[in-house]
Amino acid sequence: MKKLNLGSGTECLDDWINIDNSFNARLAKSPRLRYLLFKLNFLSKKHYDVDWADHIHKIMIHDVSKKLPFDNESIDYIYSSHLIEHLNKEVGEKLLQECFRVLKKGGLFRLIIPDLELFANNYIKEITDTQNSMDNTDFLMSERFLDQLNMSEKTRIPLIIKILHPEHKWMYDQYSLTALLTSCGFTAIRKMSYKEGDCPDIELLDNRPEESLYLEASK
Ligand SMILES: C[S@@+](CC[C@H](N)C(=O)[O-])C[C@H]1O[C@@H](n2cnc3c(N)ncnc32)[C@H](O)[C@@H]1O
Repeated sequence: MKKLNLGSGTECLDDWINIDNSFNARLAKSPRLRYLLFKLNFLSKKHYDVDWADHIHKIMIHDVSKKLPFDNESIDYIYSSHLIEHLNKEVGEKLLQECFRVLKKGGLFRLIIPDLELFANNYIKEITDTQNSMDNTDFLMSERFLDQLNMSEKTRIPLIIKILHPEHKWMYDQYSLTALLTSCGFTAIRKMSYKEGDCPDIELLDNRPEESLYLEASK
């Protein structure tokens, strides 16, 4: 059985084909350069502490904005968590078309994203609660919202930092993502929960329950 984890990061299991093109993963092969970038503050402590060296041998380095290197209808399961929002809308759509191409008939796609609807609802709730309590001192609500979206820049950011800390390029809610999956040919698109669904190993792979939307779709 063939299982793909697209944009796996370090969440890579042995019997999955884990695909990622992180510059951080490539850097794992050059520990000195990695340390230097950390010392020069180009790599945050959070990112420096991620132990890519332990995982790099399990990762196929591939840019998912390019054609997936698999035959038509050759894959049983595709899992992708918190990846598609790092691609622009057009590239994200092409990736889902590629997923449909390589998935076998009857195959299953589990797609997880940071949920735009959830973030927007939380932001509106915060504003409403603040207005109701007549407390207008919390002027950082919009900043927290923008931080959560991870699509905004406070200051001009050097290119090297952008490469090492990629931001979101597009975001989705369950409606837009369902429409996109449908347009790519997927059927039986259903909303699932954290660690619940028909995809194998989700008890090991799923993360970020507080911010994620979990969808499964069939071919
Ligand atoms: C936010 S992390 C998610 C990692 C993991 N899937 C998880 O849920 O924790 C996004 C991952 O997608 C990878 N990624 C982003 N753009 C990519 C691309 N064009 N091709 C392959 N991987 C990409 C990044 O390198 C990063 O490891």
